[in-house]
Amino acid sequence: MTRYAVRPATAADSAAIDTQLSRQADRLEALDRRVRMPRSAAPGGLVAVDAGAIAGHLRPLLVEITAGDELLSFSFPSTVHWQEVVTADPVALAALAAASRVHGAADAVLWPAVAGPAFGEVGLEPSFVFALRPPGPLPCKTPVAVRRAWPADTESLVALHEAEVAFHEPHTPYIRRVPGLEPAYRARLQRAWAGADPVEGASVIHVAEIGGRVVAMCESMLQASPAGSAASRLPAGRYGFLNSVSVAAAHRGAGIGRAVVAAAIANLALYGVDGYTLWLATGNPLARRVWPALGFRALWTRFERRP
Ligand SMILES: CC(C)(COP(=O)(O)OP(=O)(O)OC[C@H]1O[C@@H](n2cnc3c(N)ncnc32)[C@H](O)[C@@H]1OP(=O)(O)O)[C@@H](O)C(=O)NCCC(=O)NCCS
Repeated sequence: MTRYAVRPATAADSAAIDTQLSRQADRLEALDRRVRMPRSAAPGGLVAVDAGAIAGHLRPLLVEITAGDELLSFSFPSTVHWQEVVTADPVALAALAAASRVHGAADAVLWPAVAGPAFGEVGLEPSFVFALRPPGPLPCKTPVAVRRAWPADTESLVALHEAEVAFHEPHTPYIRRVPGLEPAYRARLQRAWAGADPVEGASVIHVAEIGGRVVAMCESMLQASPAGSAASRLPAGRYGFLNSVSVAAAHRGAGIGRAVVAAAIANLALYGVDGYTLWLATGNPLARRVWPALGFRALWTRFERRP
């Protein structure tokens, strides 16, 4: 078995790394035309070397989330994100992984879902899927009253948002309620109540009502994928992002989720979108079934290892 030396990448390595990244991008983008892979490496990062030849590259990026941030509901406080991973040899990947590890931090990498299982040999398991739905209306099958939310809905919305996160807790270690969750959602609601423009990133919230009671909500927003952005996970364009969808437990499985998502999709379409996106936790047993039924297909898988 080859023992790779791992060292910092230098400017002299960039042509070899870019060639490997481009070949990998050709292969994976051909498997899924919606995927955009990096074709050139930013300065820095690590290379695995065998007898002078570059056998792999990885650029670790340490991301730390401060206490009180709502992102802690699904992210570990410190995570080393693997950027521009490329190697054909799991042994070289293991050497790069070991060299980029930070004590007390998680490791995470986004990889095209079409590539199937990956990274298990270096201890990372699938945690989330980023899914994409092409443009087009979603037919609503259930006659339920759906409308835009208004300020008097605030407490019902906060309860539904908390319930959405709480639903995950028995199924996955990757999502949990944190103190920052409620204030962040209330702040987005306040912005929406103040009439902030969705084009400027404001949330739009739709609710479904039964007997005058709010029983479901969908929070959506517009997101841009700039042309030529190395960080983009999507073809260039504007996308409608579903941030939080929650149906009260007693009303699940009756078509209300479809109805509230259909309304959000119809509203996002008014802005001219190239598709609809969302994140789902791989451990969520409902999300795995519901989102494919509503036309969403896995685009990226996030793999991670938590300490
Ligand atoms: C996920 C959720 C929003 C879906 O809303 P819902 O009202 O239960 O879903 P619907 O009844 O509208 O069903 C939508 C589709 O999913 C399918 N589906 C729903 N529940 C299902 C189940 N338990 N098993 C298999 N398929 C199911 C339905 O058949 C339906 O397909 P169709 O519209 O083509 O007939 C809701 O179940 C929920 O709040 N779950 C807890 C929180 C959560 O997981 N939120 C999403 C996080 S990504």
